[in-house]
Parts: sequence; C-alpha cells; structure tokens
Amino acid sequence: MALNVVVDCDPGHDDAIALMVAHRFANVVGISTVCGNAPLADTSRNALALAELAGWDTPVHSGAAGPLAGEPVHAPHVHGETGLGGAGLPAPKTELASTDAVGFLLDASKRIGDLWVVAVGPLTNVALAIEKDAAFAERVAGISIMGGSATAGNVTRTAEFNVYADPEAAAVVFGSGARLKMCGLNLTTQIQSEDGLIPRLAGQGPVPDLVARLFAFIHDRMQELVGERRAALHDPCAVLALTHPHLIRMEPRAVDVELAGHWTRGMTVVDQRTLRRQDPPNAEVAYGIDVGAALEVVLDGVLGC
Ligand code: BDR
Ligand code: CA
Repeated sequence: MALNVVVDCDPGHDDAIALMVAHRFANVVGISTVCGNAPLADTSRNALALAELAGWDTPVHSGAAGPLAGEPVHAPHVHGETGLGGAGLPAPKTELASTDAVGFLLDASKRIGDLWVVAVGPLTNVALAIEKDAAFAERVAGISIMGGSATAGNVTRTAEFNVYADPEAAAVVFGSGARLKMCGLNLTTQIQSEDGLIPRLAGQGPVPDLVARLFAFIHDRMQELVGERRAALHDPCAVLALTHPHLIRMEPRAVDVELAGHWTRGMTVVDQRTLRRQDPPNAEVAYGIDVGAALEVVLDGVLGC
C-alpha cells in the first residue's frame, strides 16, 4: 500500500532534497510551506519552483508567516537570502493551491487514511492544525519530524533551528499525543553531503543538476562557517524514517520542549536516563543510521526525479 505523506517544509537546501526523496519513494499528497530558513514568500516560491522543475503536480499550500510567539527566525547564513542560494531557478509560473496550509492539513487528514506528516521546518503549521482540531493528532498515522536534538543544538548550545524558530509550536506537537518520530541533530549530522557527490549528479538531468549546484553552494557556506566542505542532510532523514525505516535505529523516549530556560529555550529535553525509570515515551527518537545505504537511497531519490 502506498505511503501517503504531506511534506511540511521551509525550502531550504535539505528540504529540497527531502522533497525529492519523498516524491521518489512515497505518494506526496501535498506540500505545505512555513516560514523558517527564509520568509514564507521565499520558501513558498522555492517549493513551487522546485515542483515545476521536477514536473510534480503536487499542490503547494502556504502556511504560517511567523511563529506562534515572537519574531521569525531565518537562516540566510546557511541557505542564502532566498532560502535556496545557488539554485538559480526561474520564477515559478504555477500558483499556490491555497494560502491555508492548516486547512489543507486538516482536510487531508480527514480524506486520506494513514496519512503521515513529514515536518522538516518549524512546527508552526502542524501546531496550528492541532490547536484548531485536537483530533488531527489521532487522525494522522503520525508525524515524522526533523527537529531537536538528543545532544547539542546548532543555533544555541542546546537548541536546534526548527525547534528554536518556534518552541511553542514544537511543545504543542510533542504534547499532542500523535505518533511521533524525531530525527534530531544527533542523528542527522551523521549523514553528510560532500564535494565527491557532485560529479555523480552534474549532467544527469535538471533535478540532479540542481542538487549539484545546491551542494556546491552549501559546501562553500560550510567552509566559511565550520571549515569543512560538507553539509548534514538533515531533512531527508525524516523521510527515510518512513520510507526506509530499517536504515534508522529508533528508541522510544520522553521528549519535552524547554520554553523558559535562559540557556535552554528551544531545547528538546530527551529522557535518556538509564539508571532510573524513564518517563513514559511520547516519541521514537532516532539514534543511528546506516550512512552508506541511506546516502545511496538519497542519491537514488535525486537521480530518479
Ligand atoms: C534544520 O534547520 C534548517 O536550516 C534545515 O532545513 C533543517 O530543517 C536543521 O537544523
Ligand atoms: Ca528545513
């Protein structure tokens, strides 16, 4: 039976690759966009432009232009001002299916049985759907999240970008009772692109060519930021957790989102105690990935688009 997914995203270099892997290995019933790596207008335009390049007829619904509380946070130092630096995509001709991603998520959860939400941006749209209709959390098969970390953060010492950008939304999702899979930084930093992949993609068609350009751009950025020409393939992990679950080792854990701490706001606090009884789990937390096999699946996804 086909795996039905909605991809909620903020493209974003690794979001773009997650969308490719999702379209290759699942039935993507819709894309919803959220403010994150770049403002909503940019992430939505990027999703449309990517869909057009790849020839997908997947509807794109734009959603939240900012977090539940506070000001939007973006990541131009990583993804460029447009969110998809280096892509060089023409302005899309196609239009958004709607500007009501929350309505789309709710409607899709009613129409489509066993629907998974792959959430690879700030969790604002998903939280708004739960706040509007708490039964959404039970109706969906689950939510596969790229977000948080069972170790260190990447925005602050403790907070990962997608959760840091909207901690209140993440708290709603982790408290919702939905089946959750969490691919945090402790997992996603284990699988990285590097320059050696570029020749495998360049010249292999419009989508692989795009990914070759995206890798070149983000490896330049990483060279500046961390001194290494490689970049974590964060968001595809949340897709692989559904399409290739045998490649990712998950453990049930209690996860809560810190909303108050001066040093820890936006941290996913994962119960990893071993000597005491753990709190009841609310998520499957990813710890290990078969890096070689997963990388081949990702490349297959890109080359198959
Ligand atoms: C996450 O933040 C974004 O910049 C990436 O697209 C990914 O979803 C990694 O922290
Ligand atoms: Ca993302």
